[in-house]
Amino acid sequence: MHVLVIGAGGREHALCWGVARSPLASRLSCAPGNGGIGQLAECVDIAVGDFDGIIAYCRAEAVDFVIVGPEDPLVAGLVDRLDEEKILAFGPTAQAAILEGSKVFTKNLCKRHNIPTAAFERFSDIAEAREYIQDQGAPIVVKVDGLAAGKGAIVCETTEEALAAAEEILGGKFGAAGNEIVVEQFMVGEEASFFALCDGRNALPLATAQDHKAVGDGDVGPNTGGMGAYSPAPVMTDEMCQKTMERIILPTMRAMEQEGRPFKGVLYAGLMITERGPQLIEYNVRFGDPECQVLLARWQSDPLAALLAAAKGQLAGYEVDWSERAAITVVMAAKGYPGDYAKGTEIKGVAAAEAIAGVSVLHAGTRLEDGRLLSNGGRVLGVTAQGRDIRTARTRAYQGVEAIDWPEGFCRNDIGWRAVQREEEHEAQSEE
Ligand code: AMP
Ligand code: GLY
Repeated sequence: MHVLVIGAGGREHALCWGVARSPLASRLSCAPGNGGIGQLAECVDIAVGDFDGIIAYCRAEAVDFVIVGPEDPLVAGLVDRLDEEKILAFGPTAQAAILEGSKVFTKNLCKRHNIPTAAFERFSDIAEAREYIQDQGAPIVVKVDGLAAGKGAIVCETTEEALAAAEEILGGKFGAAGNEIVVEQFMVGEEASFFALCDGRNALPLATAQDHKAVGDGDVGPNTGGMGAYSPAPVMTDEMCQKTMERIILPTMRAMEQEGRPFKGVLYAGLMITERGPQLIEYNVRFGDPECQVLLARWQSDPLAALLAAAKGQLAGYEVDWSERAAITVVMAAKGYPGDYAKGTEIKGVAAAEAIAGVSVLHAGTRLEDGRLLSNGGRVLGVTAQGRDIRTARTRAYQGVEAIDWPEGFCRNDIGWRAVQREEEHEAQSEE
């Protein structure tokens, strides 16, 4: 079958990597793709928002299955358009993608169905927001209702900061996405990313992962799309995964079905693991980036077959096999990211990095020009490695980073630190 992946980032490179190894795929295209994806798939120059262009390509090139990577086209209804054209697609319709598209919708759904999440109120009026924030005090979290490219949640240490954030958002800093805000209680715990493959009715949990959102070592500095990830996530024990399915994922699936918005695709729950168990921070309606990279590294059975089963409503009884080995991705970003950064700087040494056993380099923002690999975004590469545990995988990933010659890039030096710390504690205990 001819498979088309939509997107241009590291997540889409990982998806292409998974699809390319499936015996079911006879042809693989990606719109628009990037410099690394071009080595696995035919990159077609169609923007992710050009729905007419995507449909015309599907018709002309007899595409059998479309996998949509990013949230924007999902929230804007790409899957609805593909459904109308009878082209099979992986991803939720716009009515279901609202789980990511509107925090107010998701928080209200949680309230109606008793899904554990931080207590909250929503506001469109600044005077009311101000009063509530002053009543509640800090720490407190202020969020943009709509899509804000991962920059719409402001964790505030002081009431003043929270008041300023509310004023900025309702004052128009995020455009229409910020017509409403959610103000919620600050939760204490460890974060994890939980992914379930969904077919409208059934949900199949995938391997666990954790990412690092902050730009700096020690999880400090501004939030980014994600500076690295690893799988499995030690905090997600079997018990915690079961609680997450029972208390969060399955009630959401039932609620969405009841409300006439059955969810198909991958449901990504951002969780806070608290003393009272898992609490939902937010939903995303697509794979995480860079979590997708570590999941695909560990995905042993045919990933394309699983995504097809989800799209066709055939997940009941379906199983996915995972490698016992751990995987880690270290993101290399352009200096200055998540603020201003330069594009078009030359990257060398990718082949040398990939020559290291267990290392693959997944491209997030690159392009090829006259045989030279150039940076083309904020997050540029995801050096991905496997090993028997997180420590081994991490050593390899950083060997890969060392092999890459890109003076204009940087990475965090402590990806996986929590998991490594746990492995070391575990080892110390078993030696006693
Ligand atoms: P979000 O955009 O909702 O995923 O939030 C981005 C980040 O802000 C999360 O990954 C958390 O680190 C933090 N965050 C969001 N909501 C809360 C909360 N209620 N309590 C503590 N931290 C939060
Ligand atoms: N890694 C976080 C995200 O994909 O939203």
